[in-house]
Amino acid sequence: MSEKRWQDVLFSQGFGTRRVCLGLIQQGLVTHNGEEVEDPDAWVETDDLFFTVQGERWPYHDHAYLMLHKPAGTECSQKASLYPSIYTLLPSPLRQRGGGAAAGVQAVGRLDQDTTGLLILSDDGKFIHRLTSPKHHVPKVYEVTTKHPLDASQIERLVAGVGLDDDPKPVAAHAAVQTGTHTLTLTLTQGKYHQVKRMLAAVSNRVEGLHRSQIGSLTLADLPEGAWRWLTPDEVKQVSAKT
Ligand code: URA
Repeated sequence: MSEKRWQDVLFSQGFGTRRVCLGLIQQGLVTHNGEEVEDPDAWVETDDLFFTVQGERWPYHDHAYLMLHKPAGTECSQKASLYPSIYTLLPSPLRQRGGGAAAGVQAVGRLDQDTTGLLILSDDGKFIHRLTSPKHHVPKVYEVTTKHPLDASQIERLVAGVGLDDDPKPVAAHAAVQTGTHTLTLTLTQGKYHQVKRMLAAVSNRVEGLHRSQIGSLTLADLPEGAWRWLTPDEVKQVSAKT
């Protein structure tokens, strides 16, 4: 059980500066259980709390854990230069949570501009660190379309290990399954820079299309491109479990 004052609830969930949060309550724009929140200093139980701000319903979360279906033509950096940032796909409270310089949720690892698929985002530094640590071997599944037809020897080499320029040791896929003349499902347990593209280049092929379909047991299911959703507590536990 934990409690917060209403103005702290709004501030922690990213609804603006303390002054803005106070203003939202004073203008009658915040409701709870169908009733207007009147006292910004009143305490409220935050477990399983839902409230509305300007008519939009929000859950309270100590930390935010989300999945996003990244569309092609978006960049994972905050200040995107050539393409729109993935962060523009999120509502502003998720980009402002916590306040300060490192406010908002951050992508856990990055996908290239032209890659689509599953991205996890969070504002929990420990969670992000755990998932991006080289010691964390949660499998990531990629659906790859290649420029040239695939052959059995390319698939074998991807699993046996290929040399990547800056890596002293060969890098191997956890699994590689050919699904068509130009398509394969590749499972990786590391997250090296442009890893899929470099591995396919190392076997004399080229990536034409790349989609991340799975991280651990998490899949996008029917989440449409460009959409996001909260992860459930079980999903958070599963994806961050030691492997
Ligand atoms: N490997 C790549 O080459 N690109 C991605 O976006 C993800 C993995």
